[in-house]
Amino acid sequence: MALKSFDFKPYNKLTPFEAWIESEGIPIVREFVVPDLRTVELGPWGRLGGKGAWLVLGSANDQSATTPYICEIPPGGRLEPEKHMYEEIIFVLDGMGATEVWIDEGKKRLFEWGPNSLFAPPLNVWHRLVNGSGQKPARFMALTNAPAVFNLYHNVEFVFDNPFSFRDRYAEEPDYFSGKGEQKPGRVWDSNFIADINKLSLHEWKERGPAARNVEIELAHNAIAAHISEGRPCVYRKAHRHGPGAFIFVLEGAGYSLMWPEGGSMKRYDWGAGSLFTPPNRWFHQHFTTSREPVRRLALKGWGQKYPIGGWDLMATGTEEGGDMIEYEDEDPRVRRMYEEELKKVGMTLQMPPAKTRSGSSA
Ligand SMILES: [Fe+2]
Repeated sequence: MALKSFDFKPYNKLTPFEAWIESEGIPIVREFVVPDLRTVELGPWGRLGGKGAWLVLGSANDQSATTPYICEIPPGGRLEPEKHMYEEIIFVLDGMGATEVWIDEGKKRLFEWGPNSLFAPPLNVWHRLVNGSGQKPARFMALTNAPAVFNLYHNVEFVFDNPFSFRDRYAEEPDYFSGKGEQKPGRVWDSNFIADINKLSLHEWKERGPAARNVEIELAHNAIAAHISEGRPCVYRKAHRHGPGAFIFVLEGAGYSLMWPEGGSMKRYDWGAGSLFTPPNRWFHQHFTTSREPVRRLALKGWGQKYPIGGWDLMATGTEEGGDMIEYEDEDPRVRRMYEEELKKVGMTLQMPPAKTRSGSSA
């Protein structure tokens, strides 16, 4: 792979990562909520092949950890091979194909994927994605922690042409991408390849509210991770906040999110199947389902449970105890009123016990 030079100029306010993606020459999407990832306009991508776009949602502060991109492989086409010192999780939006993975070309592994497959090429290991159809394009979304790596090292040769092998992560095991996995405590599924995420079982998560169910996903010994959560209509979970780097893709259903910085005004964002958004750094956020079917969300995020990087351990602790979750009794009463009104518009009613305030009265 020929490395394009990277003309990062210090003292110009752009982060090295932003300067690098600008040098890539593909569209950079800067919407707060991308309405549908399947229809985003892409541009020809010289480095990777195919067509792509970087998704820079939110402010520079929200891009300090992770940033996703979309890529489309043309019918009958394949991408350029690449390896890199940032982690990556790939989610297939549409189409089918295969990925080749290798350290040593003699020990190439190949696995096939289709719609809703989720996998991670191991860190700094060669990989190449190939479209399996001669008629239809294949489109995927990938989350990377490239911002963290570029901002630390600002050197393309280090990132893309680094001889180090992380054999603790990938030692060319023949069954690495077979789809095997292990259930771990904390609602975690630990695997390297998931053929269809809709077939994973979800687990109850009572601390977050009624009928909250999710599954956490760890892949390829990465620090970045994923989860799937379900939001039923007529009930809602408690608000919470955390650091930057979680990108939420709506698999099915429709609804809206309320988001606000501490002490700031609440903003509402509507979304549906195919939408992508990211809660800004330390903003509280709370999701509401307005479709009759439950909402299923896939979050690709900069942290997991297997190799925790800190800063996200208070999400299930109430703010009264110094945590990052707002208990129902501490909630702004407008939150529930708005949801009741939205449900009424579509002929549904809230199915939760009356909210109590901390002083004991009903809100
Ligand atoms: Fe969150």
